Amino acid sequence: MDRPEGFAIKSASPNINNKKIISPHTKNESKGFQFKVNKPPSYGWLEGILEKEHVDFLWKQIKNHKNKDHKPRLIGNVSESYALEDEGNYFQNEVVRPLARAYYQISGNHHPMRAYHESLEKYSLDLSTFWFNNQLKGEFNPFHDHGGVYSFVVWLKIPYDHEEQKKLPQFKGTKTDDIKAGCFEFEYFDLFGRPSQFTYGLSSEFENTIVFFPSMFRHCAYPFYDIDETRVSVSGNLWLNTQNVID
Ligand SMILES: [Fe+2]
Repeated sequence: MDRPEGFAIKSASPNINNKKIISPHTKNESKGFQFKVNKPPSYGWLEGILEKEHVDFLWKQIKNHKNKDHKPRLIGNVSESYALEDEGNYFQNEVVRPLARAYYQISGNHHPMRAYHESLEKYSLDLSTFWFNNQLKGEFNPFHDHGGVYSFVVWLKIPYDHEEQKKLPQFKGTKTDDIKAGCFEFEYFDLFGRPSQFTYGLSSEFENTIVFFPSMFRHCAYPFYDIDETRVSVSGNLWLNTQNVID
């Protein structure tokens, strides 16, 4: 696995590496003929755990935010969203550009947005939108996608445990897998065009985790209940900067 420098990363399903998805022919033990499984290539997303210095930087920027309201630019039904400054381009250079490079490499040396592929080789990817969300109980972020080429979410503070949320009285009788309280979810289409979901049942164990994905990848954050603390997440978009040609 290619790793960006400095912090752990793994790729999440669907299978991101289209070089490894075709298995060799396998002998069928009972009938004696050979078969293999073919799975078409698909994209995925990256998941990593930030280092302490990355996390400290994000909390510092949140503490020093300039009250620049970001809510009019977002779909989130949440209490507060404010723009962040990426001071010294720190988060861009230390975290998200390395992740973009890793995504490119493990996707067979191309970006998922073929229309931009050639241009992406020529222009820089800049973290030009950067913000944080304060989400209180009962608030949510409906399914949406982002602008830009790549986007990310960092879960900085998750004050609840999805497993505990499942036990709330209003969910009595609901199938366990259908309870989405406190979850973050990606949506994609499977081989048959059926909408499918990959669900993160969040808890404090996911604090300081980053998920990094193509901006057009739809996702949502479900509400949590009964907990009075604030859920804090940081997001951003990497845009193609056509003013900055890479030598
Ligand atoms: Fe989002």
